[in-house]
Amino acid sequence: MADVRLENVVKRFGKVVAVDHVNLHVKDGEFFILLGPSGCGKTTTLRIIAGLEYPDEGRVYIGGKDVTDLEPMDRDVAMVFQNYALYPHMTVYENIAFPLKIRRKKLGLTKEEIDERVHEVAKMLHIEELLDRKPGQLSGGQQQRVALARALVRRPKVWLMDEPLSNLDALLRVVMRAELKKLQKQLGITTIYVTHDQAEAMSMADRIAVMNKGRIMQVGTPHEVYYKPAHVFVATFIGNPPANILECRVTQDGDKIILECPGHREEIRDPELADAVRRAGVREIYLGMRPEHIKILKHPEPGTFKGKVYVVEPLGSEQIVDVTIDGTVVKVKAPPTLSLQPGETVYLKPEDWKKVMVFDKKTGKALKGATP
Ligand SMILES: Nc1ncnc2c1ncn2[C@@H]1O[C@H](COP(=O)(O)OP(=O)(O)O)[C@@H](O)[C@H]1O
Ligand SMILES: [Mg+2]
Repeated sequence: MADVRLENVVKRFGKVVAVDHVNLHVKDGEFFILLGPSGCGKTTTLRIIAGLEYPDEGRVYIGGKDVTDLEPMDRDVAMVFQNYALYPHMTVYENIAFPLKIRRKKLGLTKEEIDERVHEVAKMLHIEELLDRKPGQLSGGQQQRVALARALVRRPKVWLMDEPLSNLDALLRVVMRAELKKLQKQLGITTIYVTHDQAEAMSMADRIAVMNKGRIMQVGTPHEVYYKPAHVFVATFIGNPPANILECRVTQDGDKIILECPGHREEIRDPELADAVRRAGVREIYLGMRPEHIKILKHPEPGTFKGKVYVVEPLGSEQIVDVTIDGTVVKVKAPPTLSLQPGETVYLKPEDWKKVMVFDKKTGKALKGATP
């Protein structure tokens, strides 16, 4: 068993709180992703797990054992850094084989077994034909794959990966995501993977921890963080493009609950939505609507938001339409057949009010998620 647990971990750099009371429990064999914007503390968290940083507060456990005071080499983890350093005087083959060679006796590996593993991982990363080259003769993307291979060739308790695919071109990155996930599942090695790319996180993770400013905003499956974001920040970070946020007010008119948004005023009829708003007793809310859950109409209907087409971005199988509603830009995914001109007046309608998310404006916390 090699689960990983962080208990109240804090790391400060001067005045910056890079990691702010983080609690995590990564299960044995899980592919766990730390996702968040640049500077939110992902790398620092990973380095604390690796033993490369010492936390100011809190403890780290691997396989139930407190490893907080252990050296990196005594933790049985393999880490791929964002800024990989290959040994320049060694060939690609020697670079990849190195971690096995120095542990050969301990691991009880024969020369043939090492050779087999090097070729296996090189094949998976499409670098077999580069094994005789030196790092200086490789492109950035090739070097990154060699660095990844050097970590994957080991079978430690935990793999730690810091944006290991960031230097690859878009096509190769997508191929590598699938291969990496397949290998991880085959070997069942607990993996903690850092990225700022939500699409990467959604496609690879068993569970995602969404981070912001050193804090964990939510831990959940890709499905959970998409449909039931716990905080407005998560809704604005997940999705491509992410959820639209409208600042609205809720008022009571007798028995009716009235929703006032930019370009829109109506009675809330969806019972779940009305209930969520009534229970919370808040007046100022954020309405969260995903671009794929909004319809564009050319003529007004009851319950539509009036707006103006601002930009149309054709993407082949669909188009992203930016519509301004009283100065707020709302992004909508529309079918490619819908013909729209900038400046044109349109009417937006939630595909289904059950897919609309609601957040308390003051705290940012979710009052209601979306029903898939
Ligand atoms: N060695 C360091 N010295 C000072 N500040 C640091 C150091 N490492 C990270 N930081 C700061 O801590 C915060 C989190 O950084 P980091 O963990 O690298 O974020 P991420 O990997 O999510 O981009 C940032 O504000 C960063 O500038
Ligand atoms: Mg980083």
